[in-house]
Amino acid sequence: MVAVVGGGQLARMMAPPAAELGVHLRVLVEDPATAAAQVVVDAPVGAASDEAAIRELVAPADGRPPADVLTFEHEHVPNALLADLVDGGTPVRPGPGALVQAQDKIVMRRRLTDLGVPCPRWAALPTEPPAARSALEAFLGEAPGGEAVVKTARGGYDGKGVRVVTAAAEVDDWVAAHVAGGPELLVEEKVPFTRELAVLVARRPSGEVRTWPVVESIQRDGVCAEVVAPAPGLDPELAERARQVAVQVAEGLDVTGVLAVEMFEVPGEGGRSEVLVNELAMRPHNSGHWTIDGATTSQFEQHLRAVLDLPLGATTPTARWTVMANVLGSALDNLTDALPQVGARFPEARVNLYGKGIRPGRKLGHVNVSGDDLDEVRRRARGAAALLRGEEIEES
Ligand SMILES: Nc1ncnc2c1ncn2[C@@H]1O[C@H](COP(=O)(O)OP(=O)(O)O)[C@@H](O)[C@H]1O
Ligand SMILES: [Mg+2]
Repeated sequence: MVAVVGGGQLARMMAPPAAELGVHLRVLVEDPATAAAQVVVDAPVGAASDEAAIRELVAPADGRPPADVLTFEHEHVPNALLADLVDGGTPVRPGPGALVQAQDKIVMRRRLTDLGVPCPRWAALPTEPPAARSALEAFLGEAPGGEAVVKTARGGYDGKGVRVVTAAAEVDDWVAAHVAGGPELLVEEKVPFTRELAVLVARRPSGEVRTWPVVESIQRDGVCAEVVAPAPGLDPELAERARQVAVQVAEGLDVTGVLAVEMFEVPGEGGRSEVLVNELAMRPHNSGHWTIDGATTSQFEQHLRAVLDLPLGATTPTARWTVMANVLGSALDNLTDALPQVGARFPEARVNLYGKGIRPGRKLGHVNVSGDDLDEVRRRARGAAALLRGEEIEES
């Protein structure tokens, strides 16, 4: 029995492998209509911040069996409560000591810097507005091109909480919000990356670790739009380096379950590229959706195996290339209206729709296409995703 906090698409995509493994899922959902609540039978309603709801999720008062382990589909959970559950004997995976680095980008940067993991140059901003302003001006003064990236330490996702700035006044609102109790701020160099990579790692409590091939992830407006697995043309030595960095993070932070390590590929000394770690997600991640159709074991199955401390499955790709295209927003009333056309045009496309209400730019689903010819695989994944967004596409 696995208890999961959060009722979005990530919890929803745990349901098929849970059914296959014969594992009961109990998911705490924000609302009875969420993506996960539509497919998980045991889906109590409650907020992730609701201590009583989480306690009831783990050990129902009516005497139903308690959960073997508590895990998450997002990081926004009260850490003190998790520590308390651990003290009470409930396995929480990833544990609160690891999870905090996925909740707070300042804590994460500090810890990765201590571990010697390569990161962008960064600094935490002081709280008092005049001090914050002068610290940011000083950072900008030394920044190439006079640009830097300011981030809220907590609560950001999909680029919300990330701002490229050239002057301190551009984050006056965030500085004021922090004084009023909002999240702390950090500043990072604006990394001149050639592309973004991600390494997905799974680690179980007994220490077994597996990684999937390094992928390229393409963001539009701060949101992941497309993932190519494996990252095309990646120098095998850099791939190995990226893999080692990700394993170092998983082991160094004692992460259990699936960990996604987002990285930047940057030009290094002597024409060789290097990687810098951007951020961490301690759960299945958008950069790993390709594994549902393109690898022997999907990240969702692996997460369940890892948190249950079962042997991890093989992470071998099942095709030369897999491209995942996100469906971000749609002009349709119902995405399923596009299924006849998608099925007829792209019979090889693996469509995954999340059952979410349509809003501009919202992640509503994704399409995976696998094959030998990358250009063709990409064209088909994009084409199917475009039809699901309600767009016209060219005949081919
Ligand atoms: N230091 C940086 N330099 C250049 N681009 C950045 C930097 N930090 C973030 N970005 C861009 O913004 C995106 C979102 O930032 P990230 O820290 O991953 O926040 P989120 O939590 O919203 O995913 C990244 O995927 C990258 O495209
Ligand atoms: Mg990110």
